[in-house]
Amino acid sequence: MRAFMITVSVLIPLCSVLLASAKTINVVVGGNGTTQNAGLIFQPQEVTAAVGDVVVFNFTNGTHTATQSTFAEPCIPAHVSNATLNGFDSGLRDTVNGTAQTTLTVTIQPADQNTTFWFYDLWGCGQGGVGAINANDSDWQNFGAFVRNAKRLNGSSTSSSSFSRPPTSALHPTPTSTTTTNSAERVGANAVKMIFMLAPILLAMFVV
Ligand SMILES: *[C@@H]1O[C@H](CO)[C@@H](O)[C@H](O)[C@H]1NC(C)=O
Ligand SMILES: *[C@@H]1O[C@H](CO)[C@@H](O)[C@H](O)[C@H]1NC(C)=O
Ligand SMILES: *[C@@H]1O[C@H](CO)[C@@H](O)[C@H](O)[C@H]1NC(C)=O
Ligand SMILES: *[C@@H]1O[C@H](CO)[C@@H](O)[C@H](O)[C@H]1NC(C)=O
Ligand SMILES: *[C@@H]1O[C@H](CO)[C@@H](O)[C@H](O)[C@H]1NC(C)=O
Ligand SMILES: *[C@@H]1O[C@H](CO)[C@@H](O)[C@H](O)[C@H]1NC(C)=O
Ligand SMILES: *[C@@H]1O[C@H](CO)[C@@H](O)[C@H](O)[C@H]1NC(C)=O
Ligand SMILES: *[C@@H]1O[C@H](CO)[C@@H](O)[C@H](O)[C@H]1NC(C)=O
Repeated sequence: MRAFMITVSVLIPLCSVLLASAKTINVVVGGNGTTQNAGLIFQPQEVTAAVGDVVVFNFTNGTHTATQSTFAEPCIPAHVSNATLNGFDSGLRDTVNGTAQTTLTVTIQPADQNTTFWFYDLWGCGQGGVGAINANDSDWQNFGAFVRNAKRLNGSSTSSSSFSRPPTSALHPTPTSTTTTNSAERVGANAVKMIFMLAPILLAMFVV
């Protein structure tokens, strides 16, 4: 009974915190961005999203993708770089000159709490048409370094000095961009729903 009370007293505030704070964060894809102006393909390029928040990629212009990748290989789908990752990928979205707008939603799951989502557009990646959810700007794996990796590895730049590598002080970095379970189709599976699905199970455990 005591455990039951403790479970309830923990779950109820947790539910209300998640309900109160879940946000929708919009990223416009296309806009005025082209391969000549690839930094405008994702607007904004960097967003911060908490567990339960939903990032909506809004394809408004041109033909683009929003494809999750990894810090080390910015222009290659995450699951190709690392088979254990199940990254999101919109596929090519043709807006038919801006007349057929579509969206891709990515919900931040509890397991993604410390994960950075790196992503790119298939056409603009090598010119810096990339973005990130929850990048840590104090880390060596920051957004600026990700853009440099994209241009270095897939762009026309030939300078090898700009590739971002870990400093010797970060040979054992805490993993910040590992588990990735979001997929484009898992639109409804958000943290709030999960808590409500889990609550009866947890309660039943203590009633029995
Ligand atoms: C595109 O550029 C025009 C002219 O600068 C501006 O008015 C418009 O708001 C821009 N559109 C987007 C989606 O950024
Ligand atoms: C779509 O992008 C083109 C550049 O490719 C730009 O000239 C045009 O203004 C954009 N349209 C809108 C609605 O932003
Ligand atoms: C996508 O962007 C367009 C143009 O800015 C806007 O009218 C539309 O409401 C947006 N859609 C969503 C789902 O945010
Ligand atoms: C797209 O829209 C622009 C003006 O917004 C127009 O000049 C162009 O012809 C259109 N392209 C197509 C394929 O409809
Ligand atoms: C995220 O990091 C914090 C602080 O290190 C840790 O307490 C928490 O368990 C981590 N969350 C996940 C889902 O890994
Ligand atoms: C980036 O370069 C890699 C290695 O050459 C290649 O496999 C990949 O298809 C490229 N991606 C893009 C979007 O150009
Ligand atoms: C960001 O990176 C710095 C340097 O690696 C690290 O000390 C800090 O804990 C990180 N912050 C978060 C929120 O992960
Ligand atoms: C692949 O991703 C997993 C996490 O899903 C991580 O533990 C592993 O280190 C990654 N492998 C490489 C080669 O980066």
